Amino acid sequence: MSRTLASFFGLLLLSALFVVFHHVHAADDIHGGWSEDDMRSMRGLRLSVEGIADKNRSNELLRRDDAIELGRLLFHDPGMSGSGQVACSTCHRPENGYQDTEFMTFRLDPEARHRAPGLLGVALQDWFFWDGRADSLWSQALAVIENPAEHASSRLQAVRHLCARYSESFPALLRDCLRIDLPGAPVHASPLAAEENWRRLSAAQREGIDKLFVILGKSIAAFEAGRLLPGVSRFDLYVDAIAAGDSAAAAAILSEKEAAGLKLFLDAQVGCVNCHNGPMFSNSGFFVVATDTPGQPEHDRRRGIEILLDSEFNCLKWSEPENCPKLLYIKKDEAETTGAYKVPSLRNLRHAPAFMHDGRFKNLEAVIEHYQNPATLPLRHVDIRPAALFPHQREQLLSFLNVLGTEAASK
Ligand code: HEC
Ligand code: HEC
Repeated sequence: MSRTLASFFGLLLLSALFVVFHHVHAADDIHGGWSEDDMRSMRGLRLSVEGIADKNRSNELLRRDDAIELGRLLFHDPGMSGSGQVACSTCHRPENGYQDTEFMTFRLDPEARHRAPGLLGVALQDWFFWDGRADSLWSQALAVIENPAEHASSRLQAVRHLCARYSESFPALLRDCLRIDLPGAPVHASPLAAEENWRRLSAAQREGIDKLFVILGKSIAAFEAGRLLPGVSRFDLYVDAIAAGDSAAAAAILSEKEAAGLKLFLDAQVGCVNCHNGPMFSNSGFFVVATDTPGQPEHDRRRGIEILLDSEFNCLKWSEPENCPKLLYIKKDEAETTGAYKVPSLRNLRHAPAFMHDGRFKNLEAVIEHYQNPATLPLRHVDIRPAALFPHQREQLLSFLNVLGTEAASK
């Protein structure tokens, strides 16, 4: 071999080595450079559904197969609604992550103030609705049925339908249907939706109806807790790869841009993770992020607490006080709850048709723009400060949020 040819191959080898080394090294920079603090935060964000049993302690039907099946049927059943036309799935569309992609909420009720969130992983929450006016998943379902803007029904109509349609197929759950005796009772009766009629029923009838109404709510909640679970996202696989010290595998899961977005998300200065933490990217708290509408009465946490404390199905009214620490020690400070909304999950947002409690933003770019430059009101308490990101960083953050909306291919 001539000397020139040999040095040519030598050079080729060197440059090939350089390329390989450079590539591995660059991957190391992003995918291998996580601090102990970052790792702790990432492990906290890794998907886990272990908390469900604990958070739904007040639902003794949680793991029962018959309750899960009954709940599934009820979720898709329009027969409980006042019009006979509206099921839970009319708004929470199963094929779209249980999001309200058609804006049914606003079509059915032009006065509606809140958009319907997706329901995957909902059983991992502490509070329900954007203002947290329900403290259990099962009492949340009961509120829907008697809400004129949703099912527009009453507990009597719902229970009558429950017994007529399901008591034969679910005898163990619905035994009490045989005991309630309602000849001559009106179509609707409820202390909320048809009070006059409710008062005319006997105490035994009211008690029987309430008991079955609660079974209805607990069955729906058992279905949600057992079946509406988020899938593992590419983020979760990434955390596993990093925790295993395998930065080459990690580099195959997230691009450098997505990983840079994750880094920003975890950055204390940027602040996202201060509120969006835990396996659903929510700390279960209520915060003011400058999304109130000046001059309009707010359907915010302050109002949510009033409704919750009044609710006949809240934990304190339906259980022993020692089971209700959340409610006993509820944070009521007016300055902090005015204009405050629940920190939503950031998982599975890919079908979300709009963002924030009122759907004011149509895409995630607009959400990031808001955090960059929140329109704060003078003299009002607010829990965020401008994020101060360069344009390329905003893009990185956006690409990371999109990672959470994807399910990993392997699942
Ligand atoms: C008309 C549309 C509509 C129907 C029908 C409907 N929902 Fe909803 N759902 C919403 C809206 C809107 C919200 C948010 C309301 C709020 O926060 O004030 C919501 C909130 C929820 C939440 C709370 C989610 C969270 O993150 O806090 C759950 C759980 C839920 N719905 C389950 C149900 C179930 C179960 C049914 C059937 C019994 C049902 N929904 C029927 C529109 C609907
Ligand atoms: C002080 C707590 C807090 C911080 C910090 C925070 N958020 Fe939020 N986030 C919230 C609350 C509360 C909402 C709901 C506000 C509303 O509905 O009006 C929200 C809503 C969102 C939504 C909309 C989700 C949906 O389903 O509508 C996204 C996306 C989001 N935040 C991303 C971020 C990112 C990215 C950062 C960092 C730049 C961040 N958040 C920082 C509390 C916080």
